[in-house]
Amino acid sequence: MRTRVGIIGAGPAGLLLAQLLDRSGIESVLIERQSAEHVAGRIRAGILESTTVDVLRAAGVGDRLAHTAIEHRGIYLQWPGTRHQVDFADLIGRSVWVYGQTEVTADLMAARAAAGQRIHYKVTDVGVHEVDSDRPHITFRDEHGVARRIDADVIVGCDGFHGPSRQAIPASVRRTWERTYPFAWLGVLAEVAPSTDELIYAWHEDGFALHSMRSPAVSRFYLQVRPEEDIAEWSDDRIWAALAERLHIDGWTLRTGTITEKSVLPMRSHVTAPMRHGRLFLAGDAAHIVPPTGAKGLNLAVADVAVLAEALTAWLGAGDERAAAAYSATALRRVWRATHFSWWMTTMLHRHGDDFDGELQLAQLRRIAQSTHAATELAENYTGTSIETA
Ligand code: APR
Ligand code: PHB
Repeated sequence: MRTRVGIIGAGPAGLLLAQLLDRSGIESVLIERQSAEHVAGRIRAGILESTTVDVLRAAGVGDRLAHTAIEHRGIYLQWPGTRHQVDFADLIGRSVWVYGQTEVTADLMAARAAAGQRIHYKVTDVGVHEVDSDRPHITFRDEHGVARRIDADVIVGCDGFHGPSRQAIPASVRRTWERTYPFAWLGVLAEVAPSTDELIYAWHEDGFALHSMRSPAVSRFYLQVRPEEDIAEWSDDRIWAALAERLHIDGWTLRTGTITEKSVLPMRSHVTAPMRHGRLFLAGDAAHIVPPTGAKGLNLAVADVAVLAEALTAWLGAGDERAAAAYSATALRRVWRATHFSWWMTTMLHRHGDDFDGELQLAQLRRIAQSTHAATELAENYTGTSIETA
């Protein structure tokens, strides 16, 4: 097969890149390790920055989003005895949107199918070759086990944290930074109306808890647990009791319902640089992971892809390589800002260390409640910067 852009991974990053390139008249081929059903069924985060919404609209996948996404003007920060609203709209005139990554993926899959995108699902043995040359190519086995090859002008690794693309950058030029946090999240999806108008990020002696939502009828919750936590030890009753305890505030009750999904998620930060080597580019989780506390994972992937689609359009469409040459540095500035913010939120809200750490966390939380400056710093980071100014 011959194409302009060979894309490895059909998660949100790969699908959105194919969509944006197509709108600039640049064709691509996608390959994906999982089945389409698996990709569509994965449950991930659900907060979109307004710049992410703008990119999705410009990509032509904003219709359903415009009707069903719920605008949120802030969040609650909570610690024992206090639930404090940080009102982004009041502070800086910006807001965020609640719309599950599952929905973003569904919209993108529908748009790519309608456009006749070439996608190979259930591929194996993916190899990335000769990215240092003018003839980069991808080899793989298709779902019938047939060996195939894609020759492309450029290859983009959108294959997530466990994908092979990152390793195609020679170890001599590749640098990685990593932090593994000493806790994990137990994520829970439940058929019950949210018990709150805004997300609640709660500090508690027993560990962090988050009340999020997906729709007027579906709530999403997270509980801080140990990294090695055995999910079998978390009955539905135990989950509801822990959520009620950690989210408790006088005069408020947590509504309970049927739990439809639960899983344990590790918490780590990871950055790989450069995000371009020769004719190979990395975007999304393939190049960086943030802990979910700042709700940045999907937004970072969308920002990478927005910058990259423009750079590849200029290069492959008009022969101007300048933006492609700057891609890695441009993307990494935003990546490190989000990495810092996600680390900061995570460190402020999770129980770790000793009582001294706990008192520092409470002092920081009270500071945000008392100071417009401190609250504004959180609001600017949470709602995200524009793509150009990161
Ligand atoms: N060959 C082909 N595809 C692969 C391979 C491989 N060897 N390895 C992994 N993949 C696929 C995965 O199956 C997955 O569908 O690459 C895709 C990567 O998708 P995501 O992990 O969703 O990453 P990305 O598209 O960068 O999305 C950004 O936002 O909410 C965050 O971390 C969350 O996934 C989310 C991310
Ligand atoms: C979610 O709804 O899944 C979610 C929301 C906010 C976060 C993380 C996850 O910070």
